[in-house]
Amino acid sequence: MKYPKEYLDEIKTRLKVSTIVSKSVALKKRGKEYIGLSPFKNEKTPSFTVNDEKEFYHCFATSEHGNIFDFIMKTQNLKFGEAVKHLAQLAGMQPYMFSKQDEEREKKWKEYVSIYNQYVDFYHNELLKNDNYSNAREYLKNRSLGKEEVKKFKIGYIEKNPNFFNKLKNEYSERTLIESGLFYLDDKKKVYVERFKGRLIFPINNISGQPIALGGRIIEKSEYLAKYINSPETIFFKKGSNLYNLDSARKLSNRLDHIYLVEGYMDVVGLSKNGIKNVVANLGTSLTDRQILILNQFFDDIIICFDGDESGYKAALRAAENSIKELKPEKQIYFLFLPNKEDPDSFVNKNGKNNFIDFTKQSKLSIHQFIFSHYKKQTENNPSSMAIFEKKLKAIANTIKDNFIKKYVLEYFLEKIAELTPHSNQNNKQFITKKIKSLESTKRHYKESQSLTGVELKEFSLLYLVMNNLNLLQTNIHLIENIKLFTEVNKQVLQLIIEKLKCGEKIDIKNLSLDSQLVDKINKFAPIKHILKNKSDDEHEIIELLEDTSRDLMNYDLEYRIQELESKFSKDLSEATFNELKELKKKQNIN
Ligand code: UTP
Ligand code: MN
Repeated sequence: MKYPKEYLDEIKTRLKVSTIVSKSVALKKRGKEYIGLSPFKNEKTPSFTVNDEKEFYHCFATSEHGNIFDFIMKTQNLKFGEAVKHLAQLAGMQPYMFSKQDEEREKKWKEYVSIYNQYVDFYHNELLKNDNYSNAREYLKNRSLGKEEVKKFKIGYIEKNPNFFNKLKNEYSERTLIESGLFYLDDKKKVYVERFKGRLIFPINNISGQPIALGGRIIEKSEYLAKYINSPETIFFKKGSNLYNLDSARKLSNRLDHIYLVEGYMDVVGLSKNGIKNVVANLGTSLTDRQILILNQFFDDIIICFDGDESGYKAALRAAENSIKELKPEKQIYFLFLPNKEDPDSFVNKNGKNNFIDFTKQSKLSIHQFIFSHYKKQTENNPSSMAIFEKKLKAIANTIKDNFIKKYVLEYFLEKIAELTPHSNQNNKQFITKKIKSLESTKRHYKESQSLTGVELKEFSLLYLVMNNLNLLQTNIHLIENIKLFTEVNKQVLQLIIEKLKCGEKIDIKNLSLDSQLVDKINKFAPIKHILKNKSDDEHEIIELLEDTSRDLMNYDLEYRIQELESKFSKDLSEATFNELKELKKKQNIN
């Protein structure tokens, strides 16, 4: 039995070829493609290429060529069905169940796509060629939309008294036509009505470029008609799972690491006209987790740019609270707020591409900055309001699924709150009073904290945990024994403490004659102290924090070694380096 094309296409579009191939072949980016050593041949110079845009790999040494299914079948010696199962699982999809229903669905899908294609093509050509549509042309002209955009987005215009239903009714059942969402039955008059009549239509395509729904805009002002309408949800169109223009924007993911997410069809068209083509719109509903996940499959960074009015701000806030859950390492979500009354379309038309990009660079806020600043604005400087504020932020951070990110966002929130409430933080009190007195020391503190790298801060966190839990560690020395630190001074401190602990004597940190400046710095800057504050006597928590911190440090170490090996490999392209690299990457995935 055959897998439906729709299912296979979904797997293909969810998984880039380079993602699949790089699990077993080290790839280097070369322009639009990736290159590496062929998995089909023992070779010293790379002759194996991967092209995500075209969705294939090619080996110049052996002429092997194919898509992700071929790759898995060949390299893992699997049958087609097994490869599909394997890849579907990687793509986070349910295994395919063959049944009578599926056959029916496959048939319906073919009819559905065919209806949409005919409909979209017909009215698109009409708009381009039919002289009777001067009102629509006039409208396009007033919005300075040329033929190029009309063609690129296959925009169409549906006349006021269309009759497409009759054209199709001999070929398809009435039920099929109704289920497409393009027509509905007017119960009173007993006639079939075209939902989008008198509107400019914007086809919404699925990820592989097939039209599956429409958005439609009126072109004359009207009191009683909605400015935009969208197709209703159908068997094949679910609003929360689709994005306008994704089929086209995703093709840029080889070259660009970020995508703009905007509110409206015209924002997509306007940005694209001005040369910003990595843009999608979320179809007039609030943003879903699913849409974030889909975008992250192609782009690392999502820049959410809603209209510069109150409803745009509210939509952005909803989007932030919804999407923070899905935040992942290496992936960022940003928010961009436009000046009042502007939307991306009007802004880019007024100011042009470069100013839009500059504005993005200067003004985008990362998701946690946005959330923090939003709730801070709602907060007054009194204990009860502050408590609600802190609680709210903690609750939001706790919705984040990825533990790694959750910890960092929580650390960020707590650190920012600590800055706002210096007096409630006993540990910091001395330091803070000094800070107010002397501007110089404030500056120094800022400079010092800025000059610390991520690894150093992590090391400080570890040492802070160690120094404050010596008793616990006396019996759990394994927790810190094998941790590798990067910074020489920190390394020495940890080594000294481990040695003393091993001697079995009770130790007091004061008698260790540690560098007091370093200890001060650790106490000052270790980010973990904000998390520890409330949990300082919960052994279980401490152990968990120690484990987390040492895992983070191990990841730094791995990352560092991987980078070194990658640069070695790019020079020597040796198999030994490659195998070593593969092992490390495997380890990194396990952590
Ligand atoms: P806007 O009202 O911000 O319109 O709606 P716009 O994108 O600026 O469009 P123009 O410039 O006036 O042509 C943004 C999006 O909200 C949805 C649509 O998806 C629209 O693109 N919307 C808006 C509706 O679904 N229905 C409406 O009546 C209005
Ligand atoms: Mn607009």
